Amino acid sequence: MTIPDPIVRILTLARWAPSGDNCQPWKFEIINEKHVVVHGTDTREWCLYDFDGHASHIAHGALIETIRIAASAEKLTVSWKRRGDSAGTTAIYDIHFQPEPELSDDPLLPFIESRVVQRRMMKTTPLTEEQKRTLASAVAPDLEVVFFETGSDKSNIAKLLWRSAYVRLTCPEAYSVHREVIEWNARLSIDRIPEEAVGVDRLTARLMRWVMHSWKRVSFFNKFLFGTILPRIQLDVLPAIFCGTHALLKPKARLSSTDDYVTAGMSIQRFWLTVASQGLYLQPQMTPVIFRWYARHEKPFSALPEPMSVAKEISDRFEKLANIDKQDDLAFFCRLGESSPPRSRSLRKALGDLIIRS
Ligand SMILES: Cc1cc2nc3c(=O)[nH]c(=O)nc-3n(C[C@H](O)[C@H](O)[C@H](O)COP(=O)(O)O)c2cc1C
Repeated sequence: MTIPDPIVRILTLARWAPSGDNCQPWKFEIINEKHVVVHGTDTREWCLYDFDGHASHIAHGALIETIRIAASAEKLTVSWKRRGDSAGTTAIYDIHFQPEPELSDDPLLPFIESRVVQRRMMKTTPLTEEQKRTLASAVAPDLEVVFFETGSDKSNIAKLLWRSAYVRLTCPEAYSVHREVIEWNARLSIDRIPEEAVGVDRLTARLMRWVMHSWKRVSFFNKFLFGTILPRIQLDVLPAIFCGTHALLKPKARLSSTDDYVTAGMSIQRFWLTVASQGLYLQPQMTPVIFRWYARHEKPFSALPEPMSVAKEISDRFEKLANIDKQDDLAFFCRLGESSPPRSRSLRKALGDLIIRS
């Protein structure tokens, strides 16, 4: 079957939705010009950052929201439903399109492709009250946006990220993920994060590439040569201080089902596109959210005992800093601000490689 042109245009744009480590956990099955099935997958089997598949569920939501925004250019409205019997590592979504001749383009449409992660230092210029109001109203009312912008907030967040990065760099299960998801020696990457977009200088990148050749090298380097210090300063401490503000997206109710994470993902994508529409840049900093999730659910994520005990400390530190209760769920944590556009970025798989032919 040839794919109807409007569906090609919608999916070509929607591919630009963000996903953890650019894993693009989706395939498309085209039923007809009014019905597309999204086959969502997840990476929980091998990626500790995909806590129970929830990072992928957030990405599925970001994709569905991007489909909705892209469909506005075709004068089509979108409704979606997850098939109730789809669970575990596959989530299947039926997406239906309805013609609506009066529909105008969604204002976020021009930013779908230009929205990009900025992992390097940004300007410290604070956001204006107007910018913060616009961002807070970009998300659904069941999410609250909390900004952390004072010097002491930023230094507390730097400490939180410093501890999270310690787990990230000393846990063998994280090492095997980093080996998979970084494309070394690259400025652009179709299905991973290119080395230049990781956020370290060239010399540190070369050193990281050499050290990450084997876990033996990593643990020797960490133990005897303070190997975690340089990347932690460049990837966590400096970016935490050099940004306009940090933002936490807090759900007002518990995130208990797959659909709760999917709908949170829709708001997260609207938030991120709104950041782009204001001429600002953003970097998600999800590791404290993820390690807190493991600590709260008492789910070990490493064969070593130390990562879990540090995750518990991160959890307590995060709760104190953000003034949240033990049982509160968190949807998204990021930093944002003014910056020049990054030179390096993740690209996307070709549409043809994402289509399931029936
Ligand atoms: C649920 C989710 C979690 C993410 N967590 C992080 C993170 O902790 N740190 C980071 O630098 N980027 C994070 N990202 C950004 C992705 O790595 C990025 O969107 C992807 O590599 C594609 O790049 P692009 O957004 O620049 O197109 C996350 C994205 C999503 C959707």
